[in-house]
Amino acid sequence: MFYEKAYDVMREEEADALVVSGGYNMRYLSGFRGATGYLYLSGKRRVLMTDARYTTMAREEAPDFEITELAPGETYGQILDRLMEEDGVKKAAYEDAHMLVQTYRKLQTACRGRLTVPLGERLDLLRCVKTPEELERLADAEAIGDRAFSHMLDVLKPGMTELEAAAELEYFMKTNGAENLSFETIVASGANSAMPHAMPSGKKMEAGDFVTMDFGCVCGGYCSDMTRTVVLGKASAKQKEVYNVVLEAQLAALDKIKSGVRCCDVDKAARDRISSAGYGSFFGHGLGHGVGLYIHEEPRLSRLCDTVLQPNMVQTVEPGIYLPGFGGVRIEDMVAVTEDGYRNLTHSEKKLMELD
Ligand code: GLY
Ligand code: MN
Repeated sequence: MFYEKAYDVMREEEADALVVSGGYNMRYLSGFRGATGYLYLSGKRRVLMTDARYTTMAREEAPDFEITELAPGETYGQILDRLMEEDGVKKAAYEDAHMLVQTYRKLQTACRGRLTVPLGERLDLLRCVKTPEELERLADAEAIGDRAFSHMLDVLKPGMTELEAAAELEYFMKTNGAENLSFETIVASGANSAMPHAMPSGKKMEAGDFVTMDFGCVCGGYCSDMTRTVVLGKASAKQKEVYNVVLEAQLAALDKIKSGVRCCDVDKAARDRISSAGYGSFFGHGLGHGVGLYIHEEPRLSRLCDTVLQPNMVQTVEPGIYLPGFGGVRIEDMVAVTEDGYRNLTHSEKKLMELD
């Protein structure tokens, strides 16, 4: 596991101890999937504290950590205070980005003011650059998505509801190697596809509808994410035009991706293409996001993010145009950044498909 990286942060922040509360960071640093409790790291020891529901799992999954089970009536604050007292901790770093204000107050009181170094998203940022093993897990997860999309091309038909299509996607992924979904599946048809994050409904799909499917699964702990938009039956001239603008925007962004490029410049490549076609005000979200243990990770491909891409960051590239009352198109791939470009982890066809 990656707990050594947490010690680098502790040294940089000149803290004597580090308290990890973010579930995905706990998992990344220790291997523990339970996401309940805290990690405590000091120069003297590494402790994973959790409750009785998870101790067996914690012992199996986090062999580099001492496991402490919360006793009946005991609080995590009391355990932390005891550990800090024994280790002579004066300054402890904590994850203000992953802690309720109320929880912080309770822990801070219990620890007698020793939580003095807020880490913001420092630990989340450790997860941006993936190891070769992580990349393969992400590729495996995305491969399940590719197969699910291919399956949907055979089953989508007029009269099927969005909810039925979403269930079909989810069943396929879970019976083909997925251990979970990485987010709630989106299937949006016709005018509903103008909502970027529409919830699948009982609406029956009709000939002539755009159908946008945005879905992902978790495999080996890592998330996949992809979106494809198809047309049921024949596409209209306007549908073809909108689709092709989105596709060109996606290709322009992909063309920009390589190590050393700023995230905002990748976003700009897609946004400029959509704006020049007159649809700029109909692309209201960022271009993409990092993916890993969690579906939305840093960095973001957005206007606001000047993070520089590095090899082995994994990003989605998902431009869209959403026209109220008409429908929308989004095309999303997941790519791993390389020195001079990217490796596309998504292999599904992107040219407009008109399903019979
Ligand atoms: N593909 C879903 C999302 O990125 O929000
Ligand atoms: Mn996405």
